[in-house]
Order: sequence, then structure tokens, then C-alpha cells
Amino acid sequence: MSTLVFGAGFLGRRFARELPLATLSTVDITDRDAVAAAIRGARAEVVINAAGKTGRPNVDWCETHRGPTWRSNVLGALELAEACEAAGAHLVHVGSGCVFYGPSPSPGGWREDDPANPISYYSRSKYAADLLLAPLPHVAVVRIRMPVDAAVHPRNLITKLAGYAQVVDVENSVTVVDDLVGVVAALAARRASGVFHATNPGTLRHRDLLALYRQVVDPSHRCELIGEGELVARGLAAAPRSNCVLASPRLDGLGLAMRPVGVALADVMSRYAADLRARAHQPGA
Ligand SMILES: NC(=O)c1ccc[n+]([C@@H]2O[C@H](COP(=O)([O-])OP(=O)(O)OC[C@H]3O[C@@H](n4cnc5c(N)ncnc54)[C@H](OP(=O)(O)O)[C@@H]3O)[C@@H](O)[C@H]2O)c1
Repeated sequence: MSTLVFGAGFLGRRFARELPLATLSTVDITDRDAVAAAIRGARAEVVINAAGKTGRPNVDWCETHRGPTWRSNVLGALELAEACEAAGAHLVHVGSGCVFYGPSPSPGGWREDDPANPISYYSRSKYAADLLLAPLPHVAVVRIRMPVDAAVHPRNLITKLAGYAQVVDVENSVTVVDDLVGVVAALAARRASGVFHATNPGTLRHRDLLALYRQVVDPSHRCELIGEGELVARGLAAAPRSNCVLASPRLDGLGLAMRPVGVALADVMSRYAADLRARAHQPGA
């Protein structure tokens, strides 16, 4: 199953490396002709959209760069969907659980078909794409939350939280990237369509992740835990961040399992410590 991955970022590079018969395209997904040519050239049966504006140094960038944000996150996603339809390819679009803010309307977490309540411009752009792509028969929208990975990376939740002097102590769903790769491969192989929540069963408080970090990686790590409302009030963020718990009944319905979050995090954290040690021994470190 030849697979073409768009988006040469944290997740796109990982998908291109680990999905079977996958290659990475660096073309601009808003460039209709270039996208069509890339899909034709790769004879892609499956296309993964991991391209999008996520903001540097963080998602607040999207608040002040709304044009580039909607062009990549909405228009680019639609261009890919149209090109896939024309080429007979299946599209797996990486969405975000950050379209949900706060407690879910029913117990157990936000479900795939719950209407979302996005606040930040980034979240709005992600939800706008979801609304248009989710009903298409050749598209799966895979919503993820706060990727957690064994490799040190600025977009890895472990690296992010360990680097903050102040950390909001909230409960969230998270996505362990190792498990996500398997889910994306399975959804692509089944040509699944509609929305899927790809988060590990269970929830994680930031304080618990950092407690494990101190235990496994760095006993000297210190930070201040703050309340959710303090992030914007203290000027640490421009827009409120999404905190939410997702339920994944559609993934469960396909029998696609991700490891319970505690099990997966313990595994990932010990490999994260090993990655840090390996980096410390690299020449020039
Ligand atoms: N990491 C997270 O916390 C998270 C959580 C939930 C969902 N997601 C979603 O997962 C997807 C991948 O995120 P990521 O973590 O891998 O972010 P990332 O590291 O920022 O990767 C996104 C990549 O897409 C590229 N891109 C932006 N606009 C493009 C365009 N028009 N054409 C081609 N490439 C373009 C970016 O390049 P430039 O940097 O040059 O713009 C970047 O290389 C995104 O859709 C994101 O919304 C991420």
C-alpha cells in the first residue's frame, strides 16, 4: 500500500519513517497542482496529512498569523482531500482533540460526534477542517492530543513540560506516538472514514507525568504547579489552552487498541531517559 505523507514536521517525519511503503512529500499542500502531481508521482494509495501550522514557539503564533493558519489548516486540508478523491487515494488527516475545551457533556469524555467548542484560532482552524472532511467517504480524521514520545523533541509533551518553570496541573487525554503510528496504519489499511479519537485509554495529570520524570529521568527537576486560569492571567499564554478528556468509541468499535496510558507512559519515559543519556554522549553535546 504505497503511502505519501505530507508535512515534514514532528509527526509527518515519524509516519514517513515507520509506516510501510511510505515516503515524505515536502510540497506546499495549498498548491493544488503540486499536490496532485506528488500524489500521482508516488502512485499513492494512501495519503497522510500531517502538514499544518502549529505555531512557533507555540500555538499562540496562530492567533497573530491567522491567514497562514487557515490557509494550511483548512484550505490545504481541503486541497489534499480533493486531490485524493481525483486520484482514488484514501486520506488520513491528523486532527486535534484541542477542538474540545473543558468537561465533556456526558461522562467518559468527549466522543467523536460531540459538537466541539473551540476557542483559540488554531483550534477553530482544526475544527473547520474536521467539519468539512469528516463526512467524506474517502477521509479518516484522526484526532490526537498532546503527543508523548520516547525521543527528546520540542513538540513532545515530556520535553515541553520538563522545560516549563510553571506548569498547569490539569487532567488530559494524551497520545503516545508509538501507538498512534499503529492506529494510523490500521485505519489506512481498512480505508476507514469519519472521525476517530486516537488517545491512550485513561487520563494523565501533568503533575503525574512530571513525578515520573523526576523518578526516571531527572530527580533534580523542579517547577511551580499553577491553576488552569492562571496561564492567561499571568501572561504565560495569549489564548486559553484546551484541556479535555476524549473517549474513543469508534476506535474501540474497530477493535483497535492503544495501551493504557500508565503502561505506555512508563515504557516511553524509560526510553526517553535513554535517549537523553545517548544525546549527552554525542560529540559536541
Ligand atoms: N504536536 C501536537 O501537540 C499536536 C496535537 C494535536 C494535533 N496535532 C496535529 O498534527 C499535525 C502534525 O503536527 P506536528 O506536531 O507534526 O507539527 P509540526 O512539527 O509543526 O509539523 C507540521 C509541519 O507542517 C508543515 N506545514 C505547514 N503548512 C504547510 C503547508 N501549507 N504545506 C506543507 N507543509 C506545511 C510545517 O512547516 P512550517 O513549520 O514551515 O510551517 C511543519 O513542518 C498538525 O496538523 C497538528 O495540528 C499536533
